[in-house]
Amino acid sequence: TRPLKVALLGCGVVGSEVARIMTTHADDLAARIGAPVELAGVAVRRPDKVREGVPAELVTTDATALVKRGDLDIVVEVIGGIEPARTLITTAFEHGASVVSANKALLAQDGAALHAAAEAHGKDLYYEAAVAGAIPLIRPLRESLAGDKVNRVLGIVNGTTNFILDKMDTTGAGYQEALDEATALGYAEADPTADVEGFDAAAKAAILAGIAFHTRVRLDDVHREGMTEVTAADFASAKEMGCTIKLLAICERAEDGASVTARVHPAMIPLSHPLASVRGAYNAVFVESDAAGQLMFYGPGAGGAPTASAVLGDLVAVGRNRIGGTTGPGESAYAALPVSPMGEV
Ligand code: NDP
Ligand code: HSE
Repeated sequence: TRPLKVALLGCGVVGSEVARIMTTHADDLAARIGAPVELAGVAVRRPDKVREGVPAELVTTDATALVKRGDLDIVVEVIGGIEPARTLITTAFEHGASVVSANKALLAQDGAALHAAAEAHGKDLYYEAAVAGAIPLIRPLRESLAGDKVNRVLGIVNGTTNFILDKMDTTGAGYQEALDEATALGYAEADPTADVEGFDAAAKAAILAGIAFHTRVRLDDVHREGMTEVTAADFASAKEMGCTIKLLAICERAEDGASVTARVHPAMIPLSHPLASVRGAYNAVFVESDAAGQLMFYGPGAGGAPTASAVLGDLVAVGRNRIGGTTGPGESAYAALPVSPMGEV
């Protein structure tokens, strides 16, 4: 079988782990996909940076030329941000490749247009890594629960802020000290304002709500409060009440089924609740549905290797589709439920 050619856009915290696993697990990936996977090019900003395990001749600063090659099967976008990621992804579709991305900011803003572009070109757009790192959540919501009716998705979806809140609560660390540590560990976004002001969690809430409720939810539809104003005194008060503080994302279908809401804000959680014991950069998400009842998804929510695990899972799925000459499920069938602008807690 001919090898599947894969281009990697970005080789930072996540991309470097994707490249490493593609090499170290090459035989397993080939067996699972049904064809070997070949790294065809790696686009970065700084070409001279030493990147272990990445052959120098594959490195380029011209991501546009790479996605226009015309012989690529899969483009993995792990640059982040809106541009140039958006144009690179649509260019990849136009030139015959399917796309795997971890870019929640972009998907929460332009997911509908990107899905439409993928569909127009008969290509896949997969993004399991965009929400909750290694935890399988997009595919269970889109596929395993497709025959059920999801009413609520609630939980911790940002590793950086959970790491900071956990440190502040359990070690008395200061906010800045904990944020610096989360950044050094590769959990934070390139601009950590996205994490601490709740934009990252809100983007994930928009993606989850759209898939769970079969409607369109964008970042701007999500009521958002960050965690920068949570203080040591707040933790002391919470403790007196037998609680801790977590940044939650809450997506709900209205009781009459006529609208949905999505919001992100810090919340007091009783210490007896499972969310209270989510430590470090782990995430945990409850999904409540008519038939299944309550499901809990839990695991590493950020970091290079956990996120790469989700990217590689998508790579296998898209690779199999490619070999089989098919595409996976696209966007959910839209019921076009209005998103309520309400943000009250
Ligand atoms: P990094 O900042 O570590 O890596 C970004 C990479 O993109 C770098 O290799 C950088 O090049 C490259 N890059 C930036 N601009 C360009 C450009 N114009 N052309 C070509 N390459 C470019 O980010 P992360 O790996 O942490 O995140 C990547 C994506 O994954 C983001 O969308 C993020 O939200 C998402 N994500 C991250 C997680 C995490 O835990 N870190 C978890 C889940 C998702 P250079 O190396 O030369 O600077
Ligand atoms: N910055 C994000 C987080 C990365 O801390 O959760 C994972 O999406």
